[in-house]
Amino acid sequence: MYVCVCLAVTDSQINNAVCSGSCSNMRELRQCLGVTSQCGRCGKSAHQVLKQALAETTTPAR
Ligand code: FES
Repeated sequence: MYVCVCLAVTDSQINNAVCSGSCSNMRELRQCLGVTSQCGRCGKSAHQVLKQALAETTTPAR
């Protein structure tokens, strides 16, 4: 699913960026993938995907 239409950034790309440790907040996500750098409309959905990805990657493994 496209999160940022302006730059064709998908939720998978955001998940991968978070999983690889490259991004852990919106500022880093913007630097890595460019989300919100054009029209800015993707901010809310990008934040949701980021939050979800962070919750999944930081869940302690047992
Ligand atoms: S949709 Fe992401 S900057 Fe426009």
